[in-house]
Amino acid sequence: MLASGSGSNFEALVNYCRRKDVLVATVCLLIVNNPGCGAKARAERLGIPWILINHRDFDSRELHDAAITNTLKKENIDLVVLAGWMRIITSELINAFPKGSLLNIHPSLLPAFKGGAAIADALLAGVVKTGCSVHEVVLVVDAGPILAQAEVLITKADDHESLSAKIHQQEHLILPPIVLAKARHLAQNYG
Ligand code: GRF
Repeated sequence: MLASGSGSNFEALVNYCRRKDVLVATVCLLIVNNPGCGAKARAERLGIPWILINHRDFDSRELHDAAITNTLKKENIDLVVLAGWMRIITSELINAFPKGSLLNIHPSLLPAFKGGAAIADALLAGVVKTGCSVHEVVLVVDAGPILAQAEVLITKADDHESLSAKIHQQEHLILPPIVLAKARHLAQNYG
């Protein structure tokens, strides 16, 4: 998994994979780009290996993504989940994996509210519902095939914090089963 922030989706997926009935996939590595991020602390607590590949150490997005790709390939990783990865992904990473092997979770009902401020944008737009989407990563940001969505109602009392909490709750429910389904599919393809 790749994460830049709090890592609550990372933790939800780790816990889901550890349940006895879903021993199909293992979260084997967390890559973070921010040294102090919550995701790293969660990985330490959960006993999941993590590595810092800090974008500030690279001259371009492509070089950063190349370093990430090398690490993933070295670890024989089949499926990459972006959960709060606040970086735009380049072809260096996308083209290194078969189509559909990179997934992202986004806090809106795509195609509505693409981009890095989806929750604020939904509040600003005054819509009565938003949600979250799991989708395949393609070169165009937040535009890949959608695999699952969940709706969240917005009330007059909602602010960024409360809406974000409601969306996270749904994300933790929809992301893990989709990742597991993908993992099963990959396992079948490998025979
Ligand atoms: C989630 O809302 C996800 O949709 C977005 O970033 C947030 C990450 O949350 N891409 P967390 O770090 O998993 O708690």
